[in-house]
Amino acid sequence: MTLSPQWLDELRARTVLSAIISPTVKLLRAGREWKACCPFHNEKTPSFTVNDDKGFYHCFGCGAHGDAIRFLTDHRGMPFMDAVKELAAKAGMDVPAPDPQAKERADRTASLTDVMASVAGWYSEQLNGLAGAEARDYLKRRGIDAETVQRFALGFAPDSRSALKRALEKLGEDRLVETGMLIKPEEGGDSYDRFRGRLMFPIRDPRGRVIGFGGRILGSGEPKYLNSPDTPLFDKGRTLYNIDRASPASRASRRLIVVEGYMDVIALDRAGIAEVVAPNGTAVTEAQLERMWRLDPAPILCFDGDSAGRKAAIRAALRALPHITPERTLRFVELPAGQDPDDVISSGGSDAFEALIAAPEPLDARLWRHELEAQLLGTPEAWAGLKQRLLDHASAIGHADLARIYREDWLSRFYAQRRPAAAAGTASPAFERRGTFRNGRFMLPEKKPGAVMKRIGQAGMADEFIGVLMVGFANYPEELPVHCEQLAALDIADQMTARVRDELVNAAFSGAALDRDGLATILRGDGATGPKASSTMGFSFTRRDSDPDRARSDLAAAVEIISAAEEVARALEDATERLKRDMTDEALEEQQRLISARHGLRQRLAQLAGTD
Ligand code: UTP
Ligand code: MN
Repeated sequence: MTLSPQWLDELRARTVLSAIISPTVKLLRAGREWKACCPFHNEKTPSFTVNDDKGFYHCFGCGAHGDAIRFLTDHRGMPFMDAVKELAAKAGMDVPAPDPQAKERADRTASLTDVMASVAGWYSEQLNGLAGAEARDYLKRRGIDAETVQRFALGFAPDSRSALKRALEKLGEDRLVETGMLIKPEEGGDSYDRFRGRLMFPIRDPRGRVIGFGGRILGSGEPKYLNSPDTPLFDKGRTLYNIDRASPASRASRRLIVVEGYMDVIALDRAGIAEVVAPNGTAVTEAQLERMWRLDPAPILCFDGDSAGRKAAIRAALRALPHITPERTLRFVELPAGQDPDDVISSGGSDAFEALIAAPEPLDARLWRHELEAQLLGTPEAWAGLKQRLLDHASAIGHADLARIYREDWLSRFYAQRRPAAAAGTASPAFERRGTFRNGRFMLPEKKPGAVMKRIGQAGMADEFIGVLMVGFANYPEELPVHCEQLAALDIADQMTARVRDELVNAAFSGAALDRDGLATILRGDGATGPKASSTMGFSFTRRDSDPDRARSDLAAAVEIISAAEEVARALEDATERLKRDMTDEALEEQQRLISARHGLRQRLAQLAGTD
C-alpha cells in the first residue's frame, strides 16, 4: 500500500476535523475554531482547540497536536491504516491499491536497515573487545560511563581499511557500499572501510532504526567528526540525532532543546535531560525545523558560545521566518563565551544548564539583538540600514498577521532605540494628561502615571486606556480599519465609552470614509470637548509632531499590548482562582508565567509612553 503525500493531503483537505472529533469530545464554537476540554489530559477549563481550516487540533495545556489521522490513532487507538481507511470512506476516496514497485522499495529499505543494525552491533563489539581499549580510555576521560555507552549504542571502528569489510562479508559488499559503510573508489579498485579508528555514534530514525553513523576521531585529527554519506536510508538534512529518544521525552517535558553536537546530546541526557536533538553537523534545514516543530511549538536552540554557534543560530532563525505561525517558532539561549552544553554540564551539572536556559530569548528579540549588534549606529546610513534589515526580515515571514506584528514590534524597538535619553525625559509627563471618556466627555485624569501603569493586566483596565487609543485613531484614522477587530473585543465597563467605541468600530466595518473630522464628530458625541487636550501626551501617536511611520507602528503596538493585557488579566484571574482551589505546581507555574507576561506588557507600554 503506498499512500503518497499528495493523496494524504487530499484526504486531509476533504476531512472536516471537528466532525471526526465531535462524536467523542464535546466541542464548543470559539470564533473560527472549536474549543473543548482536552481529551488527552485531565482538565477543567478548555485548552484544546480544533481548527477546521488548518485541519489541526492543538492543546495549549499538554501540547497534544495533530490532524484527523493522528486523532484516530492517538485518541481512539486505531492502527494507522485503519484510521486512513475510515477517513477515506467518509471522504468518498478510494484507498490506493498496493504498488509492487513500492513494495520492492520497502523490502530493499528493510534489508538495508538490517545491514545497519548488524554494523552497529559489530562496532559495539569492537568497542568492548581488544581493539577498543584506546576508545574505552577516551570515553572514560570524557566521563561517559558504561550505561551511557549502552543507551546510545556507542561503538568503535578499528583503524583498518578492511576490518569491517572482512568481518561483515556475509552482508554483501553491494549492500555495505549502498549503506555507505564501504567506499568503492570511482576510478576502480577494491572497496574499503569508510570509518577507521573512530568512536561511532549510531544515528537513528524516529522509529529507532539505525540509518547512519557519526564517527569521532580519537584525540586530534581532521575531520573531527565524519558522517555517513547520503544513502537510501540516510538523508543528513532531514535527520536529527537522538530524535527517537527526544520525541517521547519532549512530550513529557513539553520542551525541545536543540544543540550542535553528538557530545552535547549525550552530556545533557546523562544529566537527565532527554528532550534534546542535534542537526548532524549541518546548518539547520527546513526539513529539520519541520521535524522539530512536530515535537514542540518553540524549540530552544542552545548552540556553542562562539561565533560559529551564534552564526548557526541566526541562520536557523532566518530559515524559520517564512514558516513561523502562532504555533511554530524558535527560542534561543546563548551560552557563556567558549562553552558548549557539554562544558556547562561538566562544570556545573544540570542545575547550571537549567539556569542558563530558564528564560530563552524569543525569535523576535534574538533577531533584533543580532541586527542591533551587527553594526555601529553612528550615522544615518547605519540607522537606515538597521531599519531596512528589520523590515526585510519581517517581510520574509509568511504568516500575514505575524509579519505585521513583527514589523510593528521591530519598528517600535527601532524608534525607542533612536530616541535619545534626553528626549524621553521631556516626554515624561505622559500619563498626567492621559484622557478618558466619562459621560461622553473626554476627561483628563488625576492619577499618576505609575498608578495607571500598574493597572495594566488587571481586570477592567481597558477603560483607562481606551481614551489614549481613541486619540491615536483620531490622529491616524486610516489605521482604524486595521485594528477595529481588536478594538471591538476590548472589555469596556463604562457604557458611554463603550458606545463611542462601538460607533467607531461600526463606522470602520461599514467602510465609511473616516477622516479626522468624521472621527472627531463621533468622539465629541453630545458636544463635549474632543480629544485635543491630549496633544502633549508621551505616546508618539497622540502628538502631532511625531514621525507618522513611527506613530502608526506605536499605535499598533499599543492596541496589541492592551488587548494582550486584557487576556492576561482574565487568565490571571482564572489561574489565581484555580490556585486557591488546589495548590499544584502547574497552577503555580501558570500564575508565575502570567505575572511575568504582565510585567513584560507593562514595560513595553511604559517604553511606548516614554515613561520607562
Ligand atoms: P563541535 O566541534 O562543537 O563538537 O562540533 P563537540 O560535540 O563539541 O565535539 P567534542 O566535544 O570535541 O567531541 C559540533 C558538531 O558539528 C559536527 C558534529 O556533528 C559535531 O557534533 N562536526 C564537527 C562535523 O560534522 N565535523 C567536524 O569536523 C566537526
Ligand atoms: Mn561543541
